[in-house]
Formats: sequence, C-alpha cells, structure tokens
Amino acid sequence: MDRIIVEKSPPLKGTVRISGAKNAALPIMAASLLGTEDIVLEDVPQLKDVEIMCEVLKSLGAEVKQLDPNTLLINSNGLNNYVTGYELMSKMRASFLVMGPLLGRLGKTENALPGGCKIGTRPIDLHLKGFKAMGAETVLADGMVSAHANKLSGATIYLDFPSVGATENIMMAAVLADGETIIENAAMEPEIVDLSNFLRKLGAKVSGAGTSTIRIKGVKKLGGAKHTIIPDRIEAGTFMVAAAITGGDLEILNVIPSHMKPIIAKLGEAGCTIDEDYESLRVIGTPMLNSVDVKTLPYPGFPTDMQAQFMALMTKCNGISIAMETVFENRFMHVEQLQKMGANIQVDGRSAIVNGGKTLHGADVYASDLRAGAALILAGLVAEGETSIYDVYHIDRGYENIIDKFLSLGAKMRRENN
Ligand code: UD1
Repeated sequence: MDRIIVEKSPPLKGTVRISGAKNAALPIMAASLLGTEDIVLEDVPQLKDVEIMCEVLKSLGAEVKQLDPNTLLINSNGLNNYVTGYELMSKMRASFLVMGPLLGRLGKTENALPGGCKIGTRPIDLHLKGFKAMGAETVLADGMVSAHANKLSGATIYLDFPSVGATENIMMAAVLADGETIIENAAMEPEIVDLSNFLRKLGAKVSGAGTSTIRIKGVKKLGGAKHTIIPDRIEAGTFMVAAAITGGDLEILNVIPSHMKPIIAKLGEAGCTIDEDYESLRVIGTPMLNSVDVKTLPYPGFPTDMQAQFMALMTKCNGISIAMETVFENRFMHVEQLQKMGANIQVDGRSAIVNGGKTLHGADVYASDLRAGAALILAGLVAEGETSIYDVYHIDRGYENIIDKFLSLGAKMRRENN
C-alpha cells in the first residue's frame, strides 16, 4: 500500500509549472466522442482519472493513442457501443460525462449509476432533466440509467443549481440536436468555457459559455480539432497555498490569473503578497498569517475544490478562521485527519471553525478524497516530525507528478510502498 511521507520542510522556493486541468480534460475527452475525424488534445495531465477516461472511450469503440506523455490522439469514427458498465463507472464518477455525447451522436446511452461518493450523495437529476427536456426518455432500473431518443430537439433548460457536470452533459447532447438549446443558470466555470471552445473547433455552434446562459444551435455533424487544455486552477491554488503555509516564495507558471481571483483575494487577506503577470503568478508568504474566512460557491465564488487546502492553511493563521461549505453536503472528512495532527477545528453544520496558530505534529492520516489528500500534504509541510499519508491513490487521481514538483521547491517528502 503506497503512502506519501512528508517531513517538516523549509519555506518553499522556486518555480513550478502547472499541468493541464483534469476537470477540463475529462469532459473534453468525453466530447471527443462527438467528432468523426482526428482530435489531438495537448497538455492532457498524466493522471489516473485520465487513464480511466481513455479506457472508457476505447470501450465505446474510439481509438485513443498517446502521442507523447501529455498529448492524446482520439478518433471516434468507429464509435460502436453505448453502454458503460459498473466496472468503469465505479472507478470514476466523471465517466458519466459520456452520456451526453453518446445520446447526441447515437441517440442512446446506458450507464451504471455513478452513485454517491464520500463528499455527498451527488445526484444526477439535473443531467436527466436536461436530456428529458430535449425529448429523451430516461429509465432508471437495476443500477443502470439509460436514455434514448430518436432525435433530440433543442429546448430551454433551467438548472436549479449551476451544476458543472449537468451543464457539460447537456451542452454535449445539444450540439447535434435539432434546433436551439438554451441552458439557463448554467455553470460558469473556466472548464465550461474550455469545453465550449473545443466544441466550436469541432464545428459546433455554442455561445455564452462563461455566463449563466449558454445557447447551442444544433449542427448535423462534427469533425476534428487540435486543442490545448487550460491550466489546472486547483493545482495552481494548491501550490499558492503551499507558498503561503510555508512562508515561501513561489513563481507559478502556466496559470490564468483571472481564474484565480478568489484564491488571490483570500491569500492577500491572510497577508501574502501576490504579483500577477500574464500567464504566471508569484506568491510570497509572510511569517505571520492573518485569519481568513472562506465560503465555497459556484464559480466565480471560492472553489469547493480548494476548501480542504485552505483549511490546512487556517490551522497556521492566527485566531479563528471559518470555512463554510455550500456546494457539497459532506466535504469535511479532512477535519478528522487534521485534528489527528493537532489542529483545533470544530464542525458546526456546514461550517468548520478553525482556531489556528498552533503547532501541528506529524501523524498517520488518510486521504479521504483528492483535495483532502492535498490538504494533508500541505499540513505535513509545516507539522513537526513525519506525516504518513495513506490512500494516496486519491491524490494520484488529480495531481500530476506531485512529489517531484514539491521536491523541486525544497519540500521534504517521499513515496513508500509497504
Ligand atoms: C465538478 C468537478 C468537481 C468539483 C465540482 C464543483 C469535474 C470532473 N468535477 O463535479 O471537482 O468539486 O464540479 O465545482 O469537473 N447536483 C445535483 N444534481 C445534479 C448534479 C449536481 O443536485 O444532477 C449537486 C451536487 O450534489 C453538488 C452540486 O450540485 O451538491 C455541485 O455538483 P456539480 O457542479 O455537478 O459537480 P460535478 O460536476 O460532479
């Protein structure tokens, strides 16, 4: 069983290049099922989740070749299957993103239900609401969810919550539908804009991505394209917090500063100095961190995927900091692990109250999910002694070369298998 061992480290210094965004790569790979010609995707991060999506695409009849470590060639001309079974679906919830493209291209799709996960029940009602509004019939039975339609028709769909996955799935179903689809209260995340840019390169007619109203005019056929995945704003945010928590000085390359506004604002409130350039950021820590509160919200609010890492930071801020989670109902599993390291945190409903400024100590801790794992690495960098992080497969799902990147900045950590 692999574990990552983190030792108390000096202030991190140096330059780190951010990888392509996992949460942009996965929907764009799924959307590649819509095109009938060669698709080349660049800056795809080498991650477990990306590997699983490659398997999913191949199982559906697409050809997937790795041209170099971060470049994929996908050709879906031979798409011949519309079923994703439990084995692949259970490995990664985002496999569900193939539903929209399959429905759009083949008029049918059948998937094992992704089910709940540790951070919440994660229903799919909004995805299905969209498919139904476009004329699909959906059936839930025997742990499978299927949707079929002779021909999808454009519709106006209001999302009760700006779900990222539902917005993406509906966009992907709508690009080959008859007529116009309007998604209202759509998610506005940068990954939605990247998906829209990609779909447009394939020949789709999409406008409004990045606002709360997205319009899609269906076309008959989509072709091929070459596309570079946007930088991962959550990985960038994680390294920004690493600079802050260790009182370091990091230059972060391949980042889009306008995607980082909540992180830049909150690290500024904590007392860090952040210099923004065109495609890079410099974060300079401070020996005395101020307390800082965060409330997670859909974009452009503070990202739920940065809440755990900020909680690690809060343990080092002087006084009381509060993290309020409004996106997922159960995203505080890292609290218990941080408490094992000596953090003073109390959970009250959707808020975690952190009494910071105390010294953390190393402990045996478990990464309950991807971002919780990142938070434990950050806490380990400033804890006395050694922190052993177990269940690191969660971290492998979403951070490319994380140990090498941290080592290059002066962190002390290693991976062991025992
Ligand atoms: C995506 C990201 C994930 C991030 C999340 C929120 C990917 C692969 N994953 O997940 O890293 O944490 O956005 O920024 O991009 N909901 C419903 N019904 C639905 C769908 C969602 O009630 O049909 C609820 C969820 O339970 C949750 C909230 O909406 O409480 C947000 O979920 P959503 O935006 O859909 O997240 P994902 O797309 O799954």
